[in-house]
Amino acid sequence: MDVEKKIIQLRTEIKQHDVAYYRDSQPTISDKQYDELFSKLQKLEQQYPEFISADSPTQRLTAAFTNKFTIVEHEVPMLSLSNGFDEEDIKDFETRLIELLNKKNGSIIEELNFVAEPKLDGVAISVIYEKGQLVQGATRGDGFRGEEITANVRTIRNIPLSLEGENIPDRLEVRGEVLMSKKQFARCNQQALENNEKTFANPRNAASGSLRQLDPKITQSRGLAVYCYSFINAEVLEFKTHWESLQQLKIWGLPVNNEACQVKGFKGCLEYFLQLGERREVLPYEIDGVVYKLNDFTQQKTTGFVSRSPRWAIAHKFPAKEVTTELLDVEFQVGRTGAITPVAKLKPVEVAGVTVRNATLHNMAEIERLNLKIGDFVVIHRAGDVIPKVVTVLTDLRPENASAIVLPNDCPVCHAHLDHSEIIVRCTAGLNCPAQLLESIKHFVSRRAMNIDGLGEKMLEKLIEKKWIMSPADLYHLTQEQLLSIERTGTKSVSNLLNSIENSKKTQLHRFIYSLGIREVGETTAQLLADYFGNLESLRMATVDSLLHIDDVGPIVAEHIQSFFAEPRNQQEVDRLLECGIHWPAVKNWKMHDTEHPFYQKTVVLTGTLTSITREEAKQKLQAVGAKVSNALSKKTDYLIVGEDPGSKVKKAQSLNVQCLTEDEWLNKM
Ligand code: IVH
Repeated sequence: MDVEKKIIQLRTEIKQHDVAYYRDSQPTISDKQYDELFSKLQKLEQQYPEFISADSPTQRLTAAFTNKFTIVEHEVPMLSLSNGFDEEDIKDFETRLIELLNKKNGSIIEELNFVAEPKLDGVAISVIYEKGQLVQGATRGDGFRGEEITANVRTIRNIPLSLEGENIPDRLEVRGEVLMSKKQFARCNQQALENNEKTFANPRNAASGSLRQLDPKITQSRGLAVYCYSFINAEVLEFKTHWESLQQLKIWGLPVNNEACQVKGFKGCLEYFLQLGERREVLPYEIDGVVYKLNDFTQQKTTGFVSRSPRWAIAHKFPAKEVTTELLDVEFQVGRTGAITPVAKLKPVEVAGVTVRNATLHNMAEIERLNLKIGDFVVIHRAGDVIPKVVTVLTDLRPENASAIVLPNDCPVCHAHLDHSEIIVRCTAGLNCPAQLLESIKHFVSRRAMNIDGLGEKMLEKLIEKKWIMSPADLYHLTQEQLLSIERTGTKSVSNLLNSIENSKKTQLHRFIYSLGIREVGETTAQLLADYFGNLESLRMATVDSLLHIDDVGPIVAEHIQSFFAEPRNQQEVDRLLECGIHWPAVKNWKMHDTEHPFYQKTVVLTGTLTSITREEAKQKLQAVGAKVSNALSKKTDYLIVGEDPGSKVKKAQSLNVQCLTEDEWLNKM
């Protein structure tokens, strides 16, 4: 047989064994036999270099391919997935999709078909094949642009250098996740220890670090693997479902995770989630959840994307892992509203892929509940992006020298007196406390408040230290000269900052209210206040009673709002801010109320069946004139409107001396 033919035959044979081994996990020959074939091919190619080709299994590592690390633009952005953490999230995910599809298609689908796959805990890559040959590998980068790492990708053993089979598009981009197996990870770290090198925190970091090596030999030595989950530029093939496309990837010889499964409805999703969760520990690689993808491509297209994630897919994250570590110390931090929060300082420990050093302890009552002492062994819980928590204390293991956690007598930052009257202990110094001041300013400038760019924590600390900022209004008096005198600031950044401060003066009422940092007044409440009062002056003068007329404002929040504006220091600060030129357009949703209307600021309860109007319409009508419609009848109720067949409420109203009105009587007064 001529040499070229022999070489091609050996290559084909080796590739078939590769596919059987890597794609199907079903080796057809022993390692020894494989090695023999491989060295036979190597020898022949050495003897006859004219027959070497880039896709030969011997050429994974070759000078012909280098990593240029140039930036490559992704033809189609590499997006991320939105996350779900519990059953409810997954149910909502399906409901959302069903509603959207039915609305757009005028259909009445009740259940959807999904493909469930493991959420592989590695790094995303893109691999491009032209005419079936691997020509480029790239990292995900920021989703739009990544780094070109072709030479490294070629060294990954389960990625074919050339595709097999039919219908291969001229240009095909495959996407997948690069992983380091748990075994390989242990081996790598063992070796790093022996060589006195830094170890990797987890297999994902190890995969990412190994993939971004300049020298492909190092990447090769790390034993990475890939699982492909999608491809683009194959519209010509007209696949109908994601499942079909996964089968096609396999036919081309690409590795697809064999845990992928077709499931029906969110129930099917959850069943898969539980089953895979049970096997999570025995899988040879790390996964951090399950991905559900709408199977039908037409449905995917219809539902589309929201910001940078597809609506048609979701990652269902496994609950956080819990680990044990030691409590080294407890520090007391001062928050924006002066709340003193104990923070656990832990012996650093890896939880679900992240090194944890701190955990929140909420308040002293929580410390008592946990029976926690410094020196204790504690169980830490971390769920998704949430701040880690101490869940239990292993009191059996308590060391003899464990010491009690003591709340300081005065503020750890400004040494002012602490208010102990509530569960949450607070520093009483307000903005005179540098910690409260810093947090307040951070809140004031934040994107959803006054949206001032270019004031990082370090910069703010310096401005506070120099006493140039003692309250938010001082921001509007900063000068170019002052800012330039601060280390590491340049003309450009200073002028950007001053511009941003200037631009922030043009704002919206609800943003301004939110930025004041009134206790318990988040964005939603701020919006409600703006819509209800329509201007700042009315809000500043609002009584607790009038605040209670706003849906969702309860007595505690009302009290916070009223006392905020009653405080002279706050009054002064608000005036100063307005004097700086902060302004806003008229509030769009504000409905001017006739303060003389008989139902203005009255609390009304409805009972029985109304005849001329529905309950909902009645409620809206009352709210439109500034009444509060409540379900609960109490001393504070002003009117009970009585429809047909009323229940026990009428009797109760009489005993409480609440005025009852018939439907007609009420409507006459409107
Ligand atoms: S699909 C828009 N499938 O998760 C579709 N991604 O947050 C995104 N990932 O960057 C990709 N396992 O690296 C998909 N079975 C899977 C996945 C998976 C892990 C990663 C991927 C992506 C990130 C999305």
